[in-house]
Amino acid sequence: MDARGGNRLKGLILSGGKGTRLRPLTHTSAKQLVPVANKPVLFYGLEAMSAAGIGDVGVIIAPETGGEIRAAAGDGSRFGVSIEYIEQEQPLGLAHAVLTGEPFLGDSPFVMYLGDNLLRDGIVDLVETFRTEKPDALILLTPVPDPEQYGVAELNGQGRVSRLIEKPKEPKTNLALVGVYMFTPAIFEAARSIKPSWRGELEITDAIQTLVDRGLRVDPHIVHGWWKDTGQVQDMLDANRLILDDVGERVEGELVESRVEGRVVIEPGARLERTTVRGPAIVGRGSQVRNAYIGPYTAIGDEVRIENAELEHSIVLSGSSIRDLEYRIEASLIGKDVRIGRGPPLPKAYRFVVGDHADVQIL
Ligand code: G1P
Repeated sequence: MDARGGNRLKGLILSGGKGTRLRPLTHTSAKQLVPVANKPVLFYGLEAMSAAGIGDVGVIIAPETGGEIRAAAGDGSRFGVSIEYIEQEQPLGLAHAVLTGEPFLGDSPFVMYLGDNLLRDGIVDLVETFRTEKPDALILLTPVPDPEQYGVAELNGQGRVSRLIEKPKEPKTNLALVGVYMFTPAIFEAARSIKPSWRGELEITDAIQTLVDRGLRVDPHIVHGWWKDTGQVQDMLDANRLILDDVGERVEGELVESRVEGRVVIEPGARLERTTVRGPAIVGRGSQVRNAYIGPYTAIGDEVRIENAELEHSIVLSGSSIRDLEYRIEASLIGKDVRIGRGPPLPKAYRFVVGDHADVQIL
């Protein structure tokens, strides 16, 4: 693999799919654009590619959300990469996405990165190992408490991958496949040879198993830093907490009779009045927060209004307004332009206008 030659390592980021487990947010937005610490999940992947010296990145998009992804990530120059968008007409699986990317990838080895995954330690070391060791594929594994939710790997006595099963009912190990893979073009033939799984998808897990069956070398790499697949609400909150744990203090907005404690980011144009923010937390541009408490692990997006309310361990997307609450909001994921507040005192009743698949829990 010559860093300047034709076989330069390329990147493939998968940013299609329906995001059903993140409804209702994904009724109106791609799951890869839901922000973690005020930055879309997808951008972390693009930054990881750039940090690993990968300049050419193909981004697989779905017809429904592709436009929005293009608008958000653009030509990639702001991340230091060049993006080519590749439309996958239907979500027929990760191995199908690889085949969709084949014309772009050609005969280059590549890193495939699931656009809703977050890896604390990035991919620089892995890319290095892949370049020097030259296996046919390199997969990332990490121990998880719920392996049945993932692709699961078994290793042989030599520490090589011997078997991979997608979401097994009775997992033999707790080693889950992380959504970052390094492949040589051998994966295309393997992807062409498999049949759809019970969920009707061409599973990348099955394609990698085919490489193993054909006697090709599939190396495992155990991930030690944290990893998150942000497919579900709880995962988003976890990822938000983990990323906020690493932020530094930066107060550029305006503080009026307010206090920030610990690692807090207040973006320019934000204004806090009679408010306490206890970090790690972030308040986005142009947000107005009055008589409020923002507790640890909270990410408030841009142009949000909060008044007479307390929040903690939550994500609030841009344009929303939250006011006059009796109890603290916690472990919540609040979408764009949402209004939460008090109704008239009588009749004593709840009033909801909530979208499909919303989840409301009251005291
Ligand atoms: C996919 C893969 C699975 C892998 C997971 C990682 O699952 O099929 O093998 O462990 O990503 O995020 P999915 O998110 O499609 O259920």
